[in-house]
Amino acid sequence: MIMKAKVIGTGSYLPEKVLSNRDLERMVETNDEWIVSRTGMKERRIAAPDEFTSTMGAVAARHALADAGLAAEEIDYILVATLTPDYAFPSTACLIQHAIGAKQAVAVDMQAACSGYLYCLSMAKALVESGMYKNVLVIASEKLSSITNYKDRSTCVLFGDGASACIVSLKGSGLAIEAVQLGADGEQANLLIMPAGGCRNPATAETVAQELHFIKMAGNEVFKHAVRRMEAACKGCLDTLKINETDVSWLIPHQANLRIIDAIGRRFEHLPPERIFKTIQKYGNTSASSVGIALDELLKNHTVKKDEKIMLTAFGSGLTWGAALLRAEGERFA
Ligand code: ACO
Repeated sequence: MIMKAKVIGTGSYLPEKVLSNRDLERMVETNDEWIVSRTGMKERRIAAPDEFTSTMGAVAARHALADAGLAAEEIDYILVATLTPDYAFPSTACLIQHAIGAKQAVAVDMQAACSGYLYCLSMAKALVESGMYKNVLVIASEKLSSITNYKDRSTCVLFGDGASACIVSLKGSGLAIEAVQLGADGEQANLLIMPAGGCRNPATAETVAQELHFIKMAGNEVFKHAVRRMEAACKGCLDTLKINETDVSWLIPHQANLRIIDAIGRRFEHLPPERIFKTIQKYGNTSASSVGIALDELLKNHTVKKDEKIMLTAFGSGLTWGAALLRAEGERFA
């Protein structure tokens, strides 16, 4: 029998600075009522000028290591999900490897936008279950404020900064990664894009003047795909395991919009509202790190019982999407 990979420790980090809806009212033509009713967001966190994707990710990583009871030297693979790397190269994973002193680890970035945490979990599961690596450190970290246009009200109210991390291993008590379902549709790449800064449109004075180094999103279109794709990914996990919605004890959807969360939540109608985990009101959309931050907060602030199942699901640019079904296993859970 193949031993299942487990999440044996989690961590997260949120910058101190709060950007509230009231603050945004002073920056663009918007108001608290619109933002709350259309998105569910009240405030989000913004990284300080000397905080970066790598530094936030390193803090989250240290918390995850402490939670798992592992030393940095015991990590042999680092995977970083981000769409806001410190540099185009070297990878943010290499910067974090150095920052935390994980000298034995190989390190690589993964670009799957808001689905990055789940893409990394899937990869980490494969790496440890194949026997190739023992302890994989997954980090999702975003400084979205660095690519957000604070003159564009249709996007600037949505995004926040933050990081999450977890350790995936075969040994120890944790959340068994029972199933992962991923998807991608590059035909819809233009719906959510940062048009310049890559090799198609290298940075020039013109691309800066045209504001092409910011997030551009066709919100309505993305919304429709998000609900459909996340529902399908969740169903894919349930079908793989031959279980159904009522077997799920906690749901953690990507924190992009409360109306999207509610739409997915309706598929899990047996769950009381507090079991559909939400951080959106306080952190907004933190892209790749969103489900990882929520998972860390769930584990730290609530009692998850042995054998309870947690469904994670995410959706983002690419388009990309995914879901993962985790089961609480071992002495860590009562
Ligand atoms: N304040 C006030 N009015 C606004 C604001 C604002 N901040 N933003 C837009 N509006 C206006 C629009 O101009 C429009 O006005 P009009 O009717 O006069 O033209 C009106 O509000 C409605 O705009 P819509 O875009 O239709 O608003 P919608 O209800 O669709 O909400 C939103 C927009 C919140 C962006 C929603 O579409 C959404 O959440 N989409 C999905 C986002 C998502 O899932 N992203 C995926 C992951 S993100 C990633 O990968 C990085």
